[in-house]
Amino acid sequence: MVKGEKIMIIEKQSLFSTNIASFKYEGHEAFKEKWIAFKKNKDTTNMGRAARYNMWTSDPDMFEELGVIFKKCAIQYLKEFYNSVPDIKNLYLEKGWINTITPNNYLNVHCHRGKYLAVTYYMETPKNCGNLVLVDPRSNGEWLSSPYIINGRVEFEPQEGVITIFPGWIMHYIDINKSEFNRVSFSSNICLADKKR
Ligand SMILES: [Fe+2]
Repeated sequence: MVKGEKIMIIEKQSLFSTNIASFKYEGHEAFKEKWIAFKKNKDTTNMGRAARYNMWTSDPDMFEELGVIFKKCAIQYLKEFYNSVPDIKNLYLEKGWINTITPNNYLNVHCHRGKYLAVTYYMETPKNCGNLVLVDPRSNGEWLSSPYIINGRVEFEPQEGVITIFPGWIMHYIDINKSEFNRVSFSSNICLADKKR
């Protein structure tokens, strides 16, 4: 104890952190070519979360490779933030969907309740197409927030070819697409088979 201080720290923890990581996908250019050919033959604007469409089962030839990449990113995410590394066989992909945000539209605030991780891969990201915004779960917690947290929110500008992972419980939304083009991303929930969540 420093003389005169009269206090001594006995425990230090950073509790309830929100871990988010982004990955560059080196196969992006090749996958983008596949995507351009794919969307020529289909109306992909109605393949969102609420639709019956599921990337993994509806078009496995197109998306199987992406599922493997998503799992690899999840393993790396868990390695980066946690001591325990699960067997990749214990990770499974829930429904995969295609988010198409048309000009002047947005995705309202939501979370992926009960899901372990949310994954999103950015395919078409014209300038000002709408940031991913995470809402600080600590209400009135701004009094000691980091410089990244502005008005209780942290924004991430989408970048083509990048895969981003964050916990399913955090509230988030996609801001208004102010560009003249669609904003397209591929998303899925990732769960751990040996954990009840
Ligand atoms: Fe979401």
